[in-house]
Amino acid sequence: MKIKRRASKGILLKAPWELERLRTANKIVCEVLELLQNSCEPGITTKDLDRIAYEFILSRGAKPAFLGYRGYPATICISINNEVVHGIPSDSRIVEEGDLVSIDIGAIYKDYVGDAARSFSVGTSNDAVRRLLTVTEQALYKGIEQAIPRNRVGAIGAAIQEFVEAHGYNVVKKFVGHGVGRSLHEPPEIPNYGNPKQGPMLKSGMVLAIEPMVNEGTGDVVILDDGWTAVTADGKLSAHFEHSVAVTDNGPEILSKK
Ligand code: MF3
Ligand code: CO
Repeated sequence: MKIKRRASKGILLKAPWELERLRTANKIVCEVLELLQNSCEPGITTKDLDRIAYEFILSRGAKPAFLGYRGYPATICISINNEVVHGIPSDSRIVEEGDLVSIDIGAIYKDYVGDAARSFSVGTSNDAVRRLLTVTEQALYKGIEQAIPRNRVGAIGAAIQEFVEAHGYNVVKKFVGHGVGRSLHEPPEIPNYGNPKQGPMLKSGMVLAIEPMVNEGTGDVVILDDGWTAVTADGKLSAHFEHSVAVTDNGPEILSKK
């Protein structure tokens, strides 16, 4: 094994063979997200969805990345309506028509972690939900566009924040995106706000999990007594989209795709 190249501030650059494993890990995550979205009909419990994800990940020769991470008790994070992130699957939480559901999944394939999230509505949705979903997903792509060599990390968050606020919403500042590789969370941190001239400089070979959390109301969140579930402080809706992206000389490569 050759010595790993290191960028500034402990940010690990991935070799082509590592990117290949990250592609596979993220493809599996993407397939689970697709499967869960298709399974997410009114009446199903969030624990049912967690079991579906667990079985699928194992069947693909991978392992859940979140299960046991800092004591997290499940395969997926599933956060509904006013819940922002880190909702814990439960046998008593039943998905209902019109719910805005956010699902975040990590899978480890041959020691490399895939990480992605998406939000969607169950059944027919109202205009408010549809608009929040569209703006949040578009904000993710605005951030991804900035994931190019010689940009600074701040360019990603600045693009996301500008887009989100221009649409009358607010980003959540308490949680950030991150580098990803052998570990779920590697440097650098990737805030969904900031200044394009600040932060570490991006280099080809970095892999970044970019993940805007967007609130209908203020960006403030509160953590529930379970120690995990983050909810909006004002009770309004929140959405979350995440892709793992490789920085390359040919532009951003989204790893978490089919
Ligand atoms: N959703 C987080 C992320 O994308 C990770 C979840 S941590 C866990 O970075 F502990 F909840 F699993
Ligand atoms: Co992540």
